[in-house]
Amino acid sequence: MLNVTNLTVEIKENKKSYEVLSDISFSVEKNQTLGLVGESGCGKSMTATAIMGLLRNNKKITAGSIYLDDIDLIKYNEKEYEEIRGTKLSMIFQDSMASLNPLMKIGKQIEEAYLMHYKLTKDELKNKVNKSLADVGFKNISETINNIDNIINKYPHNLSGGQRQRVMIAMAIACCPQYLIADEPTTALDVTTQNKILNLIKSIQEKNNMGIIFISHDITVINKVCTHIGVMYAGKIVEYGKTNDIIKDPKHPYTKALIQSIPNTNNKNKPLSIIDGFVPTLGERNNSECIFYERCKDRTGKCKTKVKDIQMENNRKVTCTLYY
Ligand SMILES: Nc1ncnc2c1ncn2[C@@H]1O[C@H](COP(=O)(O)OP(=O)(O)OP(=O)(O)O)[C@@H](O)[C@H]1O
Ligand code: SF4
Ligand SMILES: [Mg+2]
Repeated sequence: MLNVTNLTVEIKENKKSYEVLSDISFSVEKNQTLGLVGESGCGKSMTATAIMGLLRNNKKITAGSIYLDDIDLIKYNEKEYEEIRGTKLSMIFQDSMASLNPLMKIGKQIEEAYLMHYKLTKDELKNKVNKSLADVGFKNISETINNIDNIINKYPHNLSGGQRQRVMIAMAIACCPQYLIADEPTTALDVTTQNKILNLIKSIQEKNNMGIIFISHDITVINKVCTHIGVMYAGKIVEYGKTNDIIKDPKHPYTKALIQSIPNTNNKNKPLSIIDGFVPTLGERNNSECIFYERCKDRTGKCKTKVKDIQMENNRKVTCTLYY
């Protein structure tokens, strides 16, 4: 199990510290998919980066634990982390263009994912790269333009967004990780390609029994692929539970607003619902009241104090004064 408890991350800027993640807690088991959903700037990628041990420079974990089975990864140094990245824990990054090396051919980049962990002969390596590209849907038929041999010799900019995303998945799962973090893996893609990639991730999960953390700002995508949902707002998880429970009966006003903003295809004349205002920036966050206070339609005087997490039946949790 991947178990994150009270994870808190601070950013230091101009000698001041800001809490960018506060008390994040969730767990993911093998074969489960936890969706982290929330607007831009809520801290989804920061959570992923912290779990992967990739926080750098002015960012650091100041409290909490990240247990991978019985090991607390917070105690790991960089060398120990390098050993588990790829094999136990892997990540598909948000921006494929920024994550792939623009100057290196695709085949070489996938080879590197293997060489981090295995000593392989040239032939073994070639077979592994071919197999990983076949696993993510590239064909080995010489007549097709996008056959595997052709892809191997291309640079990232020669590929379409969907093809680059497949390559990113091939690299992330090269060494059969137990847990995969997919950060907005389909956001930049058209709906048909998006569905293909989602199905691909699901089928790889079934084959490898992976636990997945799936990050998206789109609750419809989260609903399609996730067993559990953590709704993030301004660096906190404000609601957590099983996908069906949350979608059918959202409790937190922010979750309700996210669900209401899904376009209704049966009633195209209905105006699109929006959430007024913006996610507070780091400097604007006030931890002594509910962080959603300024935008919440249900706020009362009670919400001007620190808000408690309320545990509900079916392992559900919500952080809102409406429930106590
Ligand atoms: N290097 C940095 N220095 C200062 N603040 C940062 C830095 N990186 C991120 N932040 C801040 O951290 C917060 C969380 O950012 P994060 O990238 O995790 O959001 P996100 O939920 O992934 O958003 P998106 O949906 O746009 O990808 C934001 O308020 C952002 O402004
Ligand atoms: S605690 Fe109050 S302000 Fe915050 S979400 Fe609940 S009702 Fe709204
Ligand atoms: Mg992000």
